[in-house]
Order: sequence, then C-alpha cells, then structure tokens
Amino acid sequence: MRCSTISSRYVLLGLLVWLTCVPVALAASAGAQRASISYHADSQIFRMDAAHISYIMGVGPNGILQTLYWGERLQPRDRLRKAKPSHKRSSWEPKGSLTPQEYGAWGGNNVLTPAIKVHFADGNRDLVLRYEGHHIDGNELKITLTDKRAGIDVTLHYVVDPGTGIIGRSARVENHSGQVVTVDRMAAATWNLPRGDDYSLRYLGGKWAGEWNLYTRPVTQGTMVLQSRRGSTGDKNNPWFAIEDGDDWQEANGRVWFGALAWSGSWRISVDQDVFGHVHVTGGFNPFDFSWRLEPGASLRSPTFYAGYTDQGIGEASRLLHHFELTRIVPGYPHPPLRRVLYNSWEATGFDVTAAGQMKLAERAAKLGVELFVMDDGWFGERNSDHAGLGDWFANPEKFPHGLKPLIDKVHSLGMAFGIWVEPEMVNPDSDLYREHPDWVLHFKGRPRTQARHQLVLNLARDDVRDYVFHAIDRLLSNNDIQFLKWDYNRYWTEPGWPGVAPDEQQKVYVKYIRNLYGILRELRKRHPGVEIESCSSGGARVDLGILGLTDEVWPSDNTDPSDRLTIQDGFTYAYAPGLMMAWVTDSPNWVNHRATSLDFRFLSSMQGGLGIGANILEWNDAQMDKAKYYVEAYKNIRRTVQRGRLYRLISPQHQSPYSATESVARDGSQAVLFAFQRMGHEATPHSRLRLRGLDRQARYRYRVIHGKVLKGTPDVASGSYWMNYGIQILMRGDMQATGVVFERID
Ligand code: DGJ
Repeated sequence: MRCSTISSRYVLLGLLVWLTCVPVALAASAGAQRASISYHADSQIFRMDAAHISYIMGVGPNGILQTLYWGERLQPRDRLRKAKPSHKRSSWEPKGSLTPQEYGAWGGNNVLTPAIKVHFADGNRDLVLRYEGHHIDGNELKITLTDKRAGIDVTLHYVVDPGTGIIGRSARVENHSGQVVTVDRMAAATWNLPRGDDYSLRYLGGKWAGEWNLYTRPVTQGTMVLQSRRGSTGDKNNPWFAIEDGDDWQEANGRVWFGALAWSGSWRISVDQDVFGHVHVTGGFNPFDFSWRLEPGASLRSPTFYAGYTDQGIGEASRLLHHFELTRIVPGYPHPPLRRVLYNSWEATGFDVTAAGQMKLAERAAKLGVELFVMDDGWFGERNSDHAGLGDWFANPEKFPHGLKPLIDKVHSLGMAFGIWVEPEMVNPDSDLYREHPDWVLHFKGRPRTQARHQLVLNLARDDVRDYVFHAIDRLLSNNDIQFLKWDYNRYWTEPGWPGVAPDEQQKVYVKYIRNLYGILRELRKRHPGVEIESCSSGGARVDLGILGLTDEVWPSDNTDPSDRLTIQDGFTYAYAPGLMMAWVTDSPNWVNHRATSLDFRFLSSMQGGLGIGANILEWNDAQMDKAKYYVEAYKNIRRTVQRGRLYRLISPQHQSPYSATESVARDGSQAVLFAFQRMGHEATPHSRLRLRGLDRQARYRYRVIHGKVLKGTPDVASGSYWMNYGIQILMRGDMQATGVVFERID
C-alpha cells in the first residue's frame, strides 16, 4: 500500500510529549502483523512500529537528528522525551558532542565515529548535518539532512519490514556545493543502542577451511572494528554483529540487537562505546583507501545496513534474520524455491575432468536420487591445474571434443538438472584473455602484480571488463542448457590500482567493482531466469546480504569434514538461514584433516543444510550406494522443514563441544526434525535428554528415527508439552555418533 504523510494527535507537557500518532497501516508480510511510520510535527519525533519493535528518532533544537529509542514495541500513547543534545560532561566532551546522531558527519563538535566525512577543494573538512525534511511512503521513510552552507545534502533511507521488525538503512550524499567534494568515508547507518554498562558483542570470524567461528567479547569503552579491506566480503570477519545486554548469552532469553550489511566489497562495522556508556554501531564502505570524488550535482549511495531487535535471545535473533532473508532478500522471495539435492564433482575429480568421466559420475549420482549434477573446475580453456585457463570460458576441446552438449544431454536424460563451475572475475596470466588484455587486471602501473593461486583479479570496475565477463557467461548460458552456476572467487585483492582513469578517480574501484558485479549478476538473472546461482569464495569468503540478493545459496566452507562442519554450520546460522548453506557428503577420511567418519554421520551432518554429495561415488560399494539413497530420500521428506523452518540450536558445537543438537520446526508446524551429534564419548555419560522447542503444546507428535536409537519405552506419540518438557533421550555410545529423528504432527 502506498500512502503519504502521517497524521497525529498529541499533548505537549513540558519537554515530554504524548505520542498518539495514528499509525499508517502497511502491507504486512506475516499474518496480522502491521507496521507504521509516523511523524509528530510539534515534537519533531519520528516513530516506526513493526512486528515487536519500536524505533524512534527526534530532531533536537539544534536540528540534529538523533535516536531516542530502539527496542521492544511501546504502546501508542507512551510518552517520549523530545530530542535534545547530549549534556556537557567536561571540556573534553562539550554539550552535544556525544549526541547519539542517526547519521553524524565529521564536523562541528561531534567526537563520535562519524558516518560521513568529506573534504572540499579549499581544505575545509567541516560538515554538520541538520534536519531539512522527510517523506513517508508505505513502509519507507526518507529523511533529508543538510549542511546548507557547505551545500551538502544527505538523504537517509529507512525501510521497515512488518514481519520481523528488521529495518534496512542506507544513505545518499548529494553535492550541491558547486565545487568538487571528496567523500573520505561513508557509512550506511549508525545504530545507537540504549545506555548500558554490561553489553557484549558477538561476531563471526575465521579463515579458509575454518570459517564461521563464533566469538564473544565484552563491549568496553573504545572501538572494536570488524572489517574487510581486501576488496571482497572475506572470511576473517563476516559483516554481521549481535550485541546483548549482559554477557550471559542464551538462546531463548536476553535483549539482543543484531544486524548485517548488504555489501560484498571492502566493508567496516565499528562498535563504539562512549564515556556515557552509549553504544554506537556504524557500518558501510570501509574508509580504508576509500575516496569518492563527487562532481557538482553528483551523488553517492551507500549499501544497506539491516538491523533488528529481540528480547528473546540470540536464537530468536537468528530466526528473525533467517525469515527476513527468505522473505525479503534472496531471489524468489518471499517463497524462494527449495534447494535440490546436488552432486558436485570437485572432490572426486579435481581438475581431471572429461566428458566420459563426468557421465559416469552422473549415472551414479542419478541412482542416488540426486536432482542436480554440477561439474566443477577443470572443464574450460587449458585448465589442467590451477596454473592456467581462467578467463577462457570455452570448453576444452580435448576433454569435450563435441562441446558440452553430450554431457548436458546425458545429465538431462538421467532426470537431473545440469550445473557448471565458473570463476568469472579472475584470470590466469597463462590464458588467452590475459595475453590479449594484460591491462585488464587490478594493478599499479610499473609495479609487480602479486599472484595468488596463480591468478589475478580482473578489474570489473572497468566497463570493458564488465562487458567481457557478462558476455562470456551470457554466451555460456545461451549456448548451453544450463540450470545452475557455481560462481567462485578464490583470492583477495592486492595492488588494487586502476591506472586507466584519472588519479583522483582510481579509488572508486572498491565500489564500482562491486556495483558492476551486482549489475552482471542482475542482468544474467534477468536473461536466464531459470538459472540458480551459488556464491562461493574458496568456501565461505563471500557471504553477505548483498550477494544473497542475487544468488540463491552459498558454499560456506571448503572444509567438508562432517565434524568440523558442525561448528562451521552452527556459526553460519547465527547470521544466515540454514537453507542458504550447501553441505556435501564427501569421502572418508576427509581430505582436510584426515578424520574418518561413518556415512551416517556424514549424511546427518550435511542434512542440516542444503544436501549435496561431493564424494567419488564411482568408488562406493552397493551397501554405501543403498545407504546414500536412503538418506537422500529421507532428506527430501524433511528438506522444507530444514531449509525454510524455524531453527532451534539446542546444544552448541562451538568450542569443540563433544555434544551438539539442532531442531528445525516447519513453519506450518506439521513437522520437526532433530539432529544430535556426539563427537566424543565421555566416560559412561549419556547424551543430554533433549527438550524440543517451538512445538504446539496441545498437539500430538509421532516420532520416527532416521538413524540412531532412542531410549526404550519412549512413547511413539506424545504431546508437544511432553517433547518440550520431558524431552527425548537419544542413545549414543562412542565417538562420531549421529542421530536424526523426525516428529510428525498427527492432530
Ligand atoms: C574453491 C571452491 O571452494 C571449491 O569448492 C572448488 O570449486 C574449487 N574452488 C575449484 O577450483
């Protein structure tokens, strides 16, 4: 529903006002939930209510827009104090310098981390942004701030999701100064939390084959920075945060503010605590090596920073994000298609790819019930190892003498869709493309070009490179009946020079590259709507809400050891929905850590996400094939629940925990799926009795075991109350044990 501005009634009482704005009802994404955005002209207060949250801002007497409240939803008549500048603390923090600004510029007396900083040609770097006007349209709010004297406008854009209360914020800076202005830093938003002295921060970090570790640390005075400054999202930190009021993190209790940045380039999220105990979270483009020259009349828009709140612990924070991603972000939202069971050739064949070899694998995969066959790296150019071929996106004539068609036809005739691996943003120096266009890579003139995995990064910021990449992949998809792309990206940036443009334009590379990447993906999706795309970056180094707007799923890690994967997959779910994460069953012992595990353990671990198989199935015996077939079938029966349901992390596998368990509950409540793991048996200690969550107390559920044992005497059918309070006792003895149980609602 589209509507314009607001109406309100109020009573002014000293500095306090009654907020009785008539809410503007918006199209709700979930049931009877409503959202409203209102503005009270006399008190100059903006209020957003959605789902269970209220977000309130006010304009102070000095024109500065500041956060007044962000938390559990308030009653319509609740009074809020009019915005006013922070009080003076000492000569080091004069009046107003610590005001929790919605979007603070570096200038005036602002001493907090600024959202934006600019400099003018004459050396002036002072900018103070004051409220100018606003516009409400449905669930969107735009507020314009201005520094009239400087000729700079910044428009803050808010989009509130009625279903989850998650707010998306971005900013656009416009240059009306009549002269060139340089933007030195630009965030999407600053999120201001209430004053507190016991906050703690959760964040995700890792490394290749060890992504998605969950870290927790107290928020103390000063600044904590999460970032990537290497051109892409990265796996050292993921652009996600959660802050809890207290340090007793619980799945089901506690006030949690959380957020994630929709940007796949260099990014930065800083968590500042000021001397008053206010916490400010500022995120957007990484200011490191960033510079954006704005011609008169030009503008620059930030990425979007999404954030939400819950008082029901980190578990609910994750579920809100999962729901938001599936209903607002990923292609096909609000009902993205379910992930097919896929087979991927990488761990089986490496670069040793041939038409005949892939056909043999496809025949075996089809027997298992696989629905999508993906040929990984090694099929194109002179790609016999990672030394050559990237950039030459045509089938290797020796490996595919009749092109890709015979293989694709074969895969289709076996009843499977066909997918293929590409790494379009990269080039090997040993390739026809590089020999023809050595200037197309990121580099500084006359300086060495550092190779990683024997490859260089194509400068996608250049329009000719963008066009080449687009046409190469468009041609591949147009000339072949392909249903899936695995879009890989296997190195960070070094020497990020762009010598083809003027020196003061070169640092735009960080933003222009990503925008062109998004443009390519957007256009490919438009031209080939049936093609599913997986984002991969040596595993999970490119997972963020930006890339997820254009790709259907991600590959979270090259580490396919099912025990390590428990931790990796658990970490992933703090920020991202399990249905977005692919998980393959591969060979044992695993190539990463040489750990041996049973096929049962491997399957049950992988069934926590989008199931895939990446083993050399040509070597599997009949018993292994039969078992795999059983699990694939079992997965198809529960995949809607796992991929789209509500996830409850019952026991965390983090910190090498020997025990772990997850439960997924179907959104319609018809099914729940429990996975329990025991990495290491300990004395005669049994696995904890598992108490389920999220069931209907009154309803009755019948359980069935996919694999494993439960205590003798467990009732076949019991109420939701029983399973949630008494629970179920899983029996596991020994190391690397796994159990899967399904609960079907019967009335
Ligand atoms: C890195 C990916 O993470 C792997 O799954 C595989 O596709 C290789 N690249 C291929 O080079």
